[in-house]
Amino acid sequence: MSVAPGAFAVATGGQVVSTVASLIAASGVGASEGAILAAAALGRTREWLLAHDLDPLEDGAASGLVALLELRRSGLPVAYILGEREFHGLPFQVSRDVLIPRPETELLVDLAIAAAGHCGVRILDLGTGSGAIAITLAHRLTLAEVTAVDASAHALRQAARNAQRIGVQVQFVLSDWYEALSAQRFDLIVSNPPYIARADLHLKAGDLRYEPQLALVSGEDGLDALRKVIGGAPAHLQPGGRLLVEHGYDQGAAVRALFAQAGFTEALTTRDLAGVERACSAVWFGGSVR
Ligand SMILES: C[S@@+](CC[C@H](N)C(=O)[O-])C[C@H]1O[C@@H](n2cnc3c(N)ncnc32)[C@H](O)[C@@H]1O
Repeated sequence: MSVAPGAFAVATGGQVVSTVASLIAASGVGASEGAILAAAALGRTREWLLAHDLDPLEDGAASGLVALLELRRSGLPVAYILGEREFHGLPFQVSRDVLIPRPETELLVDLAIAAAGHCGVRILDLGTGSGAIAITLAHRLTLAEVTAVDASAHALRQAARNAQRIGVQVQFVLSDWYEALSAQRFDLIVSNPPYIARADLHLKAGDLRYEPQLALVSGEDGLDALRKVIGGAPAHLQPGGRLLVEHGYDQGAAVRALFAQAGFTEALTTRDLAGVERACSAVWFGGSVR
């Protein structure tokens, strides 16, 4: 459906004009997302918009904004419309080949930074997607050596472009979890794997409809990838090394059990800003690898 700018116009002094405020209000898109799209369409900052959202818009600017609002109204996530999402203060390009980095995953990065300290640790990011975790860690921990794995070649290409734009070195490896890593060992393994159950109805709603299934779905109970990531970690961690994973809101107990089964000690769950169990971390002290 295409909507002419005039359809979202307001009348001032007998003259019909479109403004940012009127176009957003008429579009049905939320004010905050509308403002992000307006800033992009007009090439202005959101601060500028606050003072100018009632200014009359020229037809070209109005149709540019209407086109973006229409895309959002059709359901496409804002990050895919703009091709960019900020994560941990860094700008990541995102295409539909990769998951849109989530604010809750910043918690995983904060935990990883705290665990790594500032020495030259070797870090592995499993299921890197846009590269959000690996690239942020390489940017913040300048002495770390970071490797990032994904099973999607398209995602890896996107991640490599992001690493180049942000100006960090990350080694990207196409691999089914640990498979292509042979006997490499790391001091810290971090992963935000897919963790949604195949039949979960959330997959049919909102932004999830547009994201790659490979990034979201993980078997009947949502735990298939976590089983592989946790079960395979002892063969790829240095003794004393740590594994840190993100998981679903109701998977905390199951993930702690997986850590225990794999021989980890001190599994510690951290809640996100919403108070939900979101990340689990444990240390591998060595011993026999099952
Ligand atoms: C939830 S997304 C996380 C993306 C990114 N790390 C983030 O936090 O925004 C999970 C990622 O795991 C990748 N993945 C799925 N199955 C995989 C497998 N068998 N081996 C390696 N990566 C896999 C997906 O392609 C996707 O990029």
